[in-house]
Amino acid sequence: MTNLAGIILAAGQGTRMKSARPKVMHAVAGRPILGHVIAAMRAAGIERLVVVTAADAEEARVYAKSEGADCVVQEPQLGTGHAANAARELLGNFEGTVVTTYGDMPLATAACFEASLAAREKTGLSLAAFRTKYPAAYGRVVLDGSGLLNRIVEYKDANEEERLCNLCNAGIFAADAKAFFRWTAALGNDNAQREYYLTDVPALAQHEGVGCAVALVEETDVMGVNSRTELARAESEMQLRLRERALARGVGMQSPHTVHLAFDTMLEPDVQIEPFVVFGPGVTVRKGATIRAFSHLEGAEVGRNTIVGPYGRLRPGATLGEDVHVGNFVEVKNSRIDNGAKVNHLSYIGDATLGEGVNIGAGTITCNYDGFDKHRTEIGAGAFIGSNTALVAPVKVGAGAYVGAGSTIARDVAAGALAVVRADKVEKPGWATKFRARRKQEKKK
Ligand code: UD1
Ligand code: MG
Repeated sequence: MTNLAGIILAAGQGTRMKSARPKVMHAVAGRPILGHVIAAMRAAGIERLVVVTAADAEEARVYAKSEGADCVVQEPQLGTGHAANAARELLGNFEGTVVTTYGDMPLATAACFEASLAAREKTGLSLAAFRTKYPAAYGRVVLDGSGLLNRIVEYKDANEEERLCNLCNAGIFAADAKAFFRWTAALGNDNAQREYYLTDVPALAQHEGVGCAVALVEETDVMGVNSRTELARAESEMQLRLRERALARGVGMQSPHTVHLAFDTMLEPDVQIEPFVVFGPGVTVRKGATIRAFSHLEGAEVGRNTIVGPYGRLRPGATLGEDVHVGNFVEVKNSRIDNGAKVNHLSYIGDATLGEGVNIGAGTITCNYDGFDKHRTEIGAGAFIGSNTALVAPVKVGAGAYVGAGSTIARDVAAGALAVVRADKVEKPGWATKFRARRKQEKKK
């Protein structure tokens, strides 16, 4: 197999997003657009990746590096061809095939890159294109009589007839690296936008007698995100795909269209997701578990046959075992809740460990933060915490202990003990009756 390298163009200003954040760092299903592109290229076997970024897009570079990609800076941004040429710095001596892509295509799949790579075998240069009813501002791809590319006309440079063309440029070129950079170095900017267009590469190849083969790909796979509206459209398409995948795997959802998934949401077969549930990144839900309506989960693991919600909130580091119940208006963060434990109503469990079969009464709060540091609460197996208890961490409640309702527990409780922290009751017989009678008399005056 030939060596493959990918160039992801991500230095554009993204003006139409009207955002201070680099366009490719906007999230789709909880992952930056750039992350989706990187994953799709890797899935097509393209391991070596170079991301072209703007000088001020530090966020994009940090992210790209965390995903194992290299970065180059394109400054100033003089167009997509100029951007591709910037990758020469790292790939100029690369022996193999380079594949380019625009960094703003979150729905791209491995198939898009594979299609372009396959077409490249025909002539030495290839491009992925798509047919659409709404060619809008995409570059138009004009074919010659033999089905090879004749030319690409950018929307702003196209005449009325050319604008009628419904075959559009998806930007996935594949070519031998040396030839590719020879062409990008020779690009000019004699066009409506005074930019160096990547789309002029085929014309330069033609001068050397290299034709450009065209691979057809799906329109939705290569939709570019240039505005907030297009970002929302990409999100909704991504959600359709993720839900479809979950349903096919055996996940139950009564109202799939109300369930919001993240790119990595891992739902096992026979998980039931009720309507209006939101998954942030990093969630795993094991077989037989039910996530009830209006729950919000991120960075959490839910064990077999466990029930969360309605209105449950699992934050990063929440790890629930089997047959656990986390009920309404309960928030769990950075805590382990072992098998069979129950936290059914209105509680905050943060930085805690709850042993098997622990029962937490309504309104229990782990007071984990002193304004400077977070502290842990440890509750042993089978312990019973009465309602409206404040557990002031760091604190431990031993296995099987009881804590009386309304207690503020600031010191450890031994296994098997009862701890109650409550003021004694004061009762004054007849006081209320006498009080009312006196106040009524006073009001009459
Ligand atoms: C581009 C194509 C168009 C194609 C469409 C597909 C060109 C000239 N036009 O138009 O034919 O149909 O994508 O979505 O290639 N970028 C840089 N540096 C720059 C300019 C852009 O890195 O100087 C990056 C952007 O960050 C973006 C990508 O290149 O990820 C495409 O740029 P964009 O401005 O979105 O081009 P389009 O107008 O969408
Ligand atoms: Mg674009």
